[in-house]
Amino acid sequence: MTTTDASTTTAAVQRDELRFPPGFLWGAATASYQIEGAVADDGRTPSIWDTFARVPGAVVGGDVADVACDHYRRMPGDVDLMASLNLGAYRFSTAWPRVRPDGGAPNQPGIDFYARLVDRLLEAGITPWATLYHWDLPQALEDAGGWTNRDTAYRFADYALTLYDALGDRVPYWTTMNEPWCSAFLGYTGGQHAPGRQEGVAGIVAAHHLMLGHGLVVDELRRRDTGADLGITLNLTVAEPFDPSEPADVDAAHRVEHLWNRMFLDPLLRGQYADELHTITAGMTWQGKSWEDHVLDGDLALIGTPLDVLGVNYYHGDGASGRPHDAAKLLGSRIEHPTRPIRSPFPGGEDLTFPRRGFPVTGLDWEVQPEGLTRLLVRLHEEYDVPPMFITENGAAYDDVVGPDGSVHDPDRWDYIQAHLRAVHAALAAGVDVRGYFAWSLLDNFEWAYGYGQRFGIVRVDYETQLRTPKTSAVRYGQVAATSALPP
Ligand code: NOJ
Repeated sequence: MTTTDASTTTAAVQRDELRFPPGFLWGAATASYQIEGAVADDGRTPSIWDTFARVPGAVVGGDVADVACDHYRRMPGDVDLMASLNLGAYRFSTAWPRVRPDGGAPNQPGIDFYARLVDRLLEAGITPWATLYHWDLPQALEDAGGWTNRDTAYRFADYALTLYDALGDRVPYWTTMNEPWCSAFLGYTGGQHAPGRQEGVAGIVAAHHLMLGHGLVVDELRRRDTGADLGITLNLTVAEPFDPSEPADVDAAHRVEHLWNRMFLDPLLRGQYADELHTITAGMTWQGKSWEDHVLDGDLALIGTPLDVLGVNYYHGDGASGRPHDAAKLLGSRIEHPTRPIRSPFPGGEDLTFPRRGFPVTGLDWEVQPEGLTRLLVRLHEEYDVPPMFITENGAAYDDVVGPDGSVHDPDRWDYIQAHLRAVHAALAAGVDVRGYFAWSLLDNFEWAYGYGQRFGIVRVDYETQLRTPKTSAVRYGQVAATSALPP
């Protein structure tokens, strides 16, 4: 009887375990500026973030990333750490101002760093995934207009091809841009991120040029008939009206959907901008021109060059409102800024608010809404001719508590990750082609305008000693990566 009970229990447990498909890629992600430090080493020149972080009030606590996780010097040990966690893949970004300082000529020592990283990963049996732009634009290019200058797209292509020539034989996955929404709208409309410009519809001009840069690179690599998987990573949201019975909220969600998701999805996957986007932005000008004046013949064909993979970064959904709410709850995670004057990152969106809806929240006050990820993936699958998708980032900041023995037990973060893995699994079960998941982030790091105070790592970094300590979430995630199964 006892034996029967035990085996019944085991069987029940096994039924609840979630298995992921063979070959599903398990990884962790980082970004150059957030972890490397060594900002003046081996020929690197300043990026827009080196400049912006020094603007008073731009970053909480005045934090800068001159040292960050000192990964530039500690890279071999960090790769060993990944191997110890059973990671199958590592998504990193390359620093443009290291590879082509000031956006100019190639810099061999900078390229060599990434060559050493890739070689070390391959030796450890970890698949390298390179992201070419994770927000560290050379300051010299910003001085010439940055992403509002069309020429930046061509300079990006030069830089990307330099790296591809150096590493293309060893790196199977290439992402052109990480979250171009943030680069464009936090950078040029809201000003929460570098370069900190608050120039309204200039954000759409920047978004167009970011996508043009992407298209130039994918088009050129297609001509070369490379075997690499080429893609872009978008931060997408599930935009819902805060109160579906309020017309102002329905309209707010509609605008957020277009100025956030479809702004990128439509040109990249349909080769066009949605009619509704033209309607929403009608009459808006920047330097006397509409954003459409910057869209030249042939651009959309380049931007719509077919992708091999689509990277999806998902952290939370958003309940949008077009009405004022309690000031303490005014702004959503993507648009609030801790210390600088707030401007909406949505062109014409000063009336948009994102009141909290009662979901649990993370340390950044971001709503935890895992089922939104399932809906997002199913929606992409149903509405677009979408290539295989990878979750290229997902994770959460929480206030970690370090135990007396130095250990970090982070059940909130692990709950968050597990819930989102279940959401991915539900999308797989619904027939969506998802091929992998990357935890954000491998290490605690420089969380942009929030500085070092917000920790997303599955591995703790002590910034005084640079000691790395895997948190409980890292150990659990490593077990999932090893078995490709999520225990009940
Ligand atoms: C997305 C960005 O790609 C990454 O750089 C950032 O740290 C995380 N979101 C968390 O905000």
